Amino acid sequence: MVTLNQTSLDIELDQPSQFHYVWLRDNCICSECMHPDTLERTLITAEIADDIAPQDAQVDKDSLVIDWNDGHHSRYPLVWLKSHNYSQSRFNSDPAAGEIKLWDREFQSRIPSYDYQALHDSQQTLLEWCCDLRDYGLTIVRNAPLVEGEIERFAEYVGVVREVIYDRLHNVRATPGEYNAYNVASTTLELKPHTDMPCYNNPPGVQMFHFLVNETEGGESTAVDGFNIAAKLKEQDPQAYRILATTPVSFQMDSARGDIASSNPLLTLDANGELKVFRFSNQLARPCNIAAEDMDDFYRAYRKIGRMIEAPENKVQFRLNTGDMMVTNNLRVMHGRNAYGGEGQRHLQLSYMDMDDVLSRIRMILKQQQEAS
Ligand code: OGA
Ligand code: ZN
Ligand code: ZN
Repeated sequence: MVTLNQTSLDIELDQPSQFHYVWLRDNCICSECMHPDTLERTLITAEIADDIAPQDAQVDKDSLVIDWNDGHHSRYPLVWLKSHNYSQSRFNSDPAAGEIKLWDREFQSRIPSYDYQALHDSQQTLLEWCCDLRDYGLTIVRNAPLVEGEIERFAEYVGVVREVIYDRLHNVRATPGEYNAYNVASTTLELKPHTDMPCYNNPPGVQMFHFLVNETEGGESTAVDGFNIAAKLKEQDPQAYRILATTPVSFQMDSARGDIASSNPLLTLDANGELKVFRFSNQLARPCNIAAEDMDDFYRAYRKIGRMIEAPENKVQFRLNTGDMMVTNNLRVMHGRNAYGGEGQRHLQLSYMDMDDVLSRIRMILKQQQEAS
């Protein structure tokens, strides 16, 4: 049942499976190799001998038992090997793993909307909201209390506030006809779909808005799924996609507290080539500093994606009223608003979190539910 090769062994689990000696030795779960209370690794990976190999390996009851040539003895439950079987497919042991669900204009009629009080009354509802935020990157919360600072409190209810060079809580308001703005959000002008804070190397992952009052004419909120735009671009124009994934774009933003600037591609890919972070902010982009021979091709790709972001078939538009919150995955979904006017007031407050905080909350609730059952 167990066959020893030069650097790995074969074992029949549900299917023929292969585990490397160094991997097995590294992941020994005995109390000498893993701290029994903290579950942290105490074995030092760098100290594993280059020629580590079993002297003997057997299946005993429900475990694989190995006597190693360094004198150590390990026992691996077969269920544990099955759930960490990297030789058949990539295992995912993260209970908070989700599924990205791309969307376009048609999403407008089914944007996940939750009642503020329900998110406080029921952990299950909070879990569902977190999962929708993870999978769609856009959610609405209705009927929040009309008190200043509520958005910061709500962020702390879900996770922790991510601080930026604005205060923990940021006010957005403008009086129609009166110019008091230090950025375009604080005018009455249209705000094109953008992600916030692309100037950070690590932009805040969750953007949270709370409308303390919205009685203006116009000013509807807009949103565009950046991952959907990127997927379409990749299909229609792979060269443009590649250019946007490899050309750094400079963004900068300052406040009384700081001046943040960095250059990163609009599309940040992970080690598997999957899109991880989408950045776009027409207003915060600074003169690009790329090689002369690349300039025309870059602008062709940059304008192309910009036109796709503006295309009505990719955009949702909805009215947020007094007491409403909007929460987005700011590493994926762009938000904006139409120009507004009229006599009424408009005042919103925003705070940030990171997506890690949302995933953390999902894991915590799942753990609680498991312990309770
Ligand atoms: C912002 C913003 C949207 C709005 O301040 O970053 O996107 O509706 N505001 O004013
Ligand atoms: Zn061990
Ligand atoms: Zn914004």
